[in-house]
Amino acid sequence: MITFTGVTKRYPDGTVAVHDLDLEIPAGRITVLVGPSGCGKTTTLRMVNRMIDPTTGTITVDGRDIRQVDPPTLRRGIGYVIQQGGLFPHRTIIDNIATVPYLLHQDKKQARARALELMERVGLDTGLAKRYPAQLSGGQQQRVGVARALAADPPIMLMDEPFSAVDPIVRTQLQDEFLRLQNDLEKTIVFVTHDIDEAVKLGHRIAVFQVGGVLAQYATPEELLAEPANDFVRDFLGGERGIRRLRFVQQLDAEAAAEAESATGAESATGTGTAAGAESATGTGSAQGGGAAAAGER
Ligand SMILES: Nc1ncnc2c1ncn2[C@@H]1O[C@H](COP(=O)(O)OP(=O)(O)O)[C@@H](O)[C@H]1O
Ligand SMILES: [Mg+2]
Repeated sequence: MITFTGVTKRYPDGTVAVHDLDLEIPAGRITVLVGPSGCGKTTTLRMVNRMIDPTTGTITVDGRDIRQVDPPTLRRGIGYVIQQGGLFPHRTIIDNIATVPYLLHQDKKQARARALELMERVGLDTGLAKRYPAQLSGGQQQRVGVARALAADPPIMLMDEPFSAVDPIVRTQLQDEFLRLQNDLEKTIVFVTHDIDEAVKLGHRIAVFQVGGVLAQYATPEELLAEPANDFVRDFLGGERGIRRLRFVQQLDAEAAAEAESATGAESATGTGTAAGAESATGTGSAQGGGAAAAGER
């Protein structure tokens, strides 16, 4: 478990990025931090592995104040995934994935074997092992980023908008595969996104931030949709769209979701998800289809 108690981050120029945050992030689950740009999501995430230190307040991991752990030791237990993978451009895919095991002076052969295993795990053809990041698609690079974060088998993963840079179809695939992977691995995941649909699809719990680094609401997706804590959250959920989603959550049981899935088939299920993503701006009825896929996965 990760806990924030009274955590504030004020940058040297006076910007308050995170304001008096109290948050308990459960072990073995996906907790999503969501909110508009500049609301302090990245700052919150980076305080967990001490890339940024709080101005005031305390953060603990499994009961231990992280100020008592030196950053390299702390980070060994915390994988970090960023947008576009953050890969080393001049290293091959396999060497990118094995970065941390190399740093830990693990046996090279073993580290490479593990990297290949991880490639398969995240749905990458091992034939790509000797390529360089620029020779991969955006979605493939993102998978490499996830594999690299998993290489040291850390109990905690911090993920900062990992799927935001890819197109909607690939994003849906990555989300679905990520949920399957997490189902097996049960990591403690803190996942940042600005996309409420992604938050609802992936999150066991969702923390909604508003600008100024204020936590507006922390709840399960169902609670969030049923009872937005204030107007900001209601607006962020998107009014009508949120209400439709809620209706869906309440009415559709797993059986109906499974039925819908088999009726549309695996391929068009992806299409449905995409349509939901594409149409989320206009908020048409097909958003329910995307929701069905999401609930089916969860
Ligand atoms: N190094 C920094 N110095 C000053 N202000 C910063 C710095 N990093 C981020 N900020 C500001 O802190 C606020 C929160 O930023 P950030 O945590 O990156 O938000 P988000 O990830 O939600 O977009 C923003 O107003 C941003 O401009
Ligand atoms: Mg950010």
